[in-house]
Amino acid sequence: MRELKVNLKDHSYKIYIENGILNNLSKYIKEVYNNDKIFIITDDIVEKLYLNKVINSLKNDYVVDYVVIPHGEASKTLEKYAYICEELLKKEIRRNNLIIALGGGVIGDLSGFVASSLFRGIPYVGIPTSLLAQMDSSIGGKTGIDFYGRKNILGAFKQPSMVLIDPETIKSLDNREFNNGMGELIKHGAIGNKELLDSLYSKPEIDENIIYESLKVKRHVVEIDEFDLNERMTLNFGHTFGHAIELKYGYKHGEAVAIGMLMAIKMGIDLGVTDPSCYKPILDILKLYNLPTEEYNYKDYLKDVLYDKKNIAGTVRFIFLTKLGECVIYKMTEKEIGKLI
Ligand code: GLY
Repeated sequence: MRELKVNLKDHSYKIYIENGILNNLSKYIKEVYNNDKIFIITDDIVEKLYLNKVINSLKNDYVVDYVVIPHGEASKTLEKYAYICEELLKKEIRRNNLIIALGGGVIGDLSGFVASSLFRGIPYVGIPTSLLAQMDSSIGGKTGIDFYGRKNILGAFKQPSMVLIDPETIKSLDNREFNNGMGELIKHGAIGNKELLDSLYSKPEIDENIIYESLKVKRHVVEIDEFDLNERMTLNFGHTFGHAIELKYGYKHGEAVAIGMLMAIKMGIDLGVTDPSCYKPILDILKLYNLPTEEYNYKDYLKDVLYDKKNIAGTVRFIFLTKLGECVIYKMTEKEIGKLI
């Protein structure tokens, strides 16, 4: 078992990473919740895989009820948000009850948003079951839904009371979904943990230790910049260009981040910020985990970047590696970017 504490001013919480933790949930949840009822929110795929197991591991200590929604990004809507709230209210949820978000990123974002707003906020525990959610969205309290054709445009910062990660759930992921999480895991190594990156070259099993080492990077930036105003933006390494190609070419998020990292390294090298020796080790590691490494010229995508939400008042904050395991936020004006196009 590995344990991490996210230390925040008003709401610190623990992350427990343990093989088989799904069979042993009450032991941990009792640390943060001693009332009677728990409401699980999950999707139809995770329901079949883990819902019974989770209920069984809680039922001796709690009354457990649940709401199931269809899987996939198409569920991150106002309609599904309203549906979940209605179901919870029908089931007579109270503001001193607990929500469990059981599933991948969509379930985490949606359940967290429900927890942030129902009764003006009720506690929730995250049990992320995809590698992508374990690596990224379940930590740090970003919650939300898609609206008006824009991703995560309605949302709130709502930190969970606890996050429980069972690395055994990774085994149920198909290859592409596994790779999706690996993109973010490799990114954490690239921006903040060179030893993690080094250990990945032997293609180890993604176990408690690897997840722990990866989450240490995210924990660090969330602790110093909970509301994403500065250091937390370093988590966007690979995302600036990644977003530009993700939808256009139908990549999964982690796949787009993989290619986006290579594009950002090339740009950082051209600007003299990134040590040129960074490119090959990252390329090699992405290939090792079967992530896409197609070459896209970053200059062709700078126009898209100018219209991205990372463009704040005419200034784009690029994240560049300086060397492996270290990065910087590099601000460029529209004019400076224009000269590169
Ligand atoms: N996924 C980036 C963040 O949590 O800030």
